[in-house]
Amino acid sequence: MDEWITRERALQILGTVLDPELHKDLVSLNMIQELEVEQGLVKFTIMLTTPACPLKNKIESDVRKAFEGEEGIKGLQIKISAKVPQNQQIPEKINSSIKNIIAVASGKGGVGKSTVAVNLAIALAQKGAQVGIMDADIYGPNVPTMMGLDQLPKPQNNKIIPAQKHQVKVVSIGFLVKQGQPLIWRGPLLHSTIKQFLVDVDWGELDYLVVDLPPGTGDVQLSLAQNIPVTCGIIVTMPQRVSLEDASRGIGMFRKLNIPIAGVIENMASMVLPDRSTIDVFGEGGGEAMANAYGLAFLGRIPLDPEIRRVGDTGEPIVVSRSKSTPAKKFVDIACEVASFISVNNLKD
Ligand SMILES: Nc1ncnc2c1ncn2[C@@H]1O[C@H](COP(=O)(O)OP(=O)(O)O)[C@@H](O)[C@H]1O
Ligand SMILES: [Mg+2]
Repeated sequence: MDEWITRERALQILGTVLDPELHKDLVSLNMIQELEVEQGLVKFTIMLTTPACPLKNKIESDVRKAFEGEEGIKGLQIKISAKVPQNQQIPEKINSSIKNIIAVASGKGGVGKSTVAVNLAIALAQKGAQVGIMDADIYGPNVPTMMGLDQLPKPQNNKIIPAQKHQVKVVSIGFLVKQGQPLIWRGPLLHSTIKQFLVDVDWGELDYLVVDLPPGTGDVQLSLAQNIPVTCGIIVTMPQRVSLEDASRGIGMFRKLNIPIAGVIENMASMVLPDRSTIDVFGEGGGEAMANAYGLAFLGRIPLDPEIRRVGDTGEPIVVSRSKSTPAKKFVDIACEVASFISVNNLKD
């Protein structure tokens, strides 16, 4: 070989590859790191904006394609890693170790909001992100049961230490009250509890804190939004009309609070029977139609599946216990969609 490729030329080539979602080149996005060029061997790390990147493979193959036909190359050594960008608005004084807040909302109870919150959080953690769940459903805190947890560890240095399971850190009011005890909240106490969950918890570094909101559009939603900038909201709805009507109020709430909405999830859609025929217990398609009507992304449809309920009751959510099942894969796809919504949102100027 007469002449090996130079570092400048390698950078120039990498500068022609666009991130498919951010629509900017990898070099300007600072996604090419540790570039070394030595006697035809080009080594670098592609630093993705989330480990849950749906387009990981496409980016790598676009990079390889860009080098095709180039002279003076002996080989490419590509490492893929990820660093989640911080929501720039999160103030130091609240908790700068939390990079992004994902708020999961629904118009009414019983539509699967907690199920979605728990499975999305675990799916993001399984991809390699640092994840926490704040169970802010102060009237019906079910996250501990769904995660198979029953208590918090001892506090340390006056900080609440989150419980941990399935690679996710969990804090819930459910850990602090006895079963059967009614949960009656006065405004100020509610407000201070939400704040405490953000400030007085030793969350450590978190890429994503998933918040399971109470159903409806009330004080907790306001309190959260007043305390910390929420990176994005997700709306969970069932397909039938009465659920959609309530969910549309959730959309209105996020909009009023200036919280970007990642999209709508339709839960408990068609159930697949053992003979593979389907039955529409609650209808199908309503969530997607609503997303379209409001100009929001439709994140996906989770079927009604008795297995989801069963494993939810036993603390082994479906992405853990039946990771190969169709609903589990759906949850993983949705988690990746939400992660990329956040990357785009945080990096746009
Ligand atoms: N897709 C689904 N198929 C079957 N059961 C589900 C599904 N999603 C949720 N469930 C079950 O429905 C019940 C209500 O869900 P939950 O997540 O607690 O709703 P929410 O938090 O909105 O009140 C739970 O018992 C849960 O396990
Ligand atoms: Mg719930």
